[in-house]
Amino acid sequence: MFYERHIFVCENQRPPGERISCADKNAEILKYLKQNSKTAYKGNGKIRIQRAGCLDRCELGPVLVSYPEGRWFSLKSTDDAKRFLEKYIASDDLDSVKDLEISDLEN
Ligand code: FES
Repeated sequence: MFYERHIFVCENQRPPGERISCADKNAEILKYLKQNSKTAYKGNGKIRIQRAGCLDRCELGPVLVSYPEGRWFSLKSTDDAKRFLEKYIASDDLDSVKDLEISDLEN
């Protein structure tokens, strides 16, 4: 695997009046993740925070999906992004970010 962790962060932006967009709320979150992920990650391989278009879970956003495990998260603030990196990415401590996770059953 080229990237040991590959995290797709929706930054889709729609015009006003259309369906809600992750980019309405996630500019600082995306910036934080991009600036801090490599420091946080303690794995042996590479990590990449990847800008993505709409992932079709807009109403739960801002959303991201982390591979290879395929877990989805909704981060609402830079504090959430910090906890996501410190607890989940750095330590694989899923319990500490369970409230940020989106289940596969949610729209
Ligand atoms: S706009 Fe982000 S999932 Fe659709």
